[in-house]
Amino acid sequence: MDKFIIKGPTTLNGSVNISGSKNAALPIMTACLASPGKYTLNNVPNLRDTRTMIKLLEIIGSKVVFKNNTLLIDTIDCNNPEAPYDLVKTMRASFYVLGPLLSRFEYAKVSLPGGCAWGPRPIDFHLKAFESLGAKVSLKGGYIKTEGKLSATTVSFPKPSVGATGNVLMACINLNQKVIINNAAKEPEIVDLCNFIKKMGVSIDGVGTETLSVLGVKEIIKQNIVYDIIPDRIEAGTFLIAAASCGGNVRLKSVIPSHLNLVIQKLRLAGALIKINTNSVDISSNGLVNPVDIITDVYPGYPTDLQAQWIALMSKSNGSCFITDTIYTDRFTHIPELIRLGSKILLHENVANVSGVKKLFGAEVMSTDIRASASLIIAALSAIGKTELSRIYHIDRGYECIENKFKKLGANIIRVSN
Ligand code: UD1
Repeated sequence: MDKFIIKGPTTLNGSVNISGSKNAALPIMTACLASPGKYTLNNVPNLRDTRTMIKLLEIIGSKVVFKNNTLLIDTIDCNNPEAPYDLVKTMRASFYVLGPLLSRFEYAKVSLPGGCAWGPRPIDFHLKAFESLGAKVSLKGGYIKTEGKLSATTVSFPKPSVGATGNVLMACINLNQKVIINNAAKEPEIVDLCNFIKKMGVSIDGVGTETLSVLGVKEIIKQNIVYDIIPDRIEAGTFLIAAASCGGNVRLKSVIPSHLNLVIQKLRLAGALIKINTNSVDISSNGLVNPVDIITDVYPGYPTDLQAQWIALMSKSNGSCFITDTIYTDRFTHIPELIRLGSKILLHENVANVSGVKKLFGAEVMSTDIRASASLIIAALSAIGKTELSRIYHIDRGYECIENKFKKLGANIIRVSN
């Protein structure tokens, strides 16, 4: 299993290209299943998760070529609307195939995703929504089976869910009747999915708001679509937080700065100087950090996917602050590992109280999920001495060549295989 050896402390200087968004690419890849056609997706990050999704698309019958971040997907001959446990268990986003398969085949069988490192992640919103669209939903042998002809309805989610909004949107691709989605997710990744399925001929009003009105295409037509995936705001936020923690001058290239508004506002409060350009962001920091509270929320709130990284940053602040996760209340597996590096953190329910320390010290630590791994890299880069970060297959799921990007900024980080 690979691990990272990181020697700190380090400052970060130079520029880094931000890759395409994982969480936008995954549902857009599955949306291609809904209509037979040839799709070209540009700016797709080369990650373990996107490669897992390619395997799943191939099992369903797609022909896929992935080269230089461009993905060619031919879904003309797809004939197997089923997603096996082996793949779904490694990546919950596999559940995204349900909506598009149901839309095209009026049938889909997908393994139930199972647990996750930070507690249960239910799928009840997805299933209730499919039922209200007219599908028969059943669970047998660990598989969810959905079947039937869909028809117009109003889906009202109890709270916004990125996954459930995406799945319902994709279920509507071939439904030429109006579906209203209330309390829809407004995340940029959902906006990107809407923009993609609009290219497939679907009409959507309210993109980027909490109410979506969706009218699918009249008849299945053979598609030929070229689309560019948006930049990854979570990867961008991770590099901004790393620069604020280590100190230095870093330019993030290929970003959409408005997707990072609140993160930038919080980083400024923490003491970083940030300049926003059209497609890039410059950050300068002297490595001194003010304590700043955050509460995660749905977009445009502070993202839960940057909560762990913020705790790493606050570990070296000159005071005490509170970090609350309201989206995933159990998502704190990084805390015991950060404590091994010297962080002072008390966790009470979903609130972490971080008291900054003057120095962190390198240690052996372990990745527990994608974003937890990113937080440990940030802390290790700021820590004195050597950190060995194991189980980095987690980080390979969601960050493209992260060690090369940090190396280019001057970090002392190497990957070793044993
Ligand atoms: C997506 C992201 C993940 C991010 C999360 C929140 C992908 C592949 N993953 O996950 O990185 O952390 O959004 O921004 O895009 N919920 C239910 N029932 C459901 C579905 C969700 O109760 O059926 C709850 C969840 O427990 C959570 C909240 O709704 O509290 C939001 O979750 P959701 O937006 O669905 O997250 P994901 O789509 O799984």
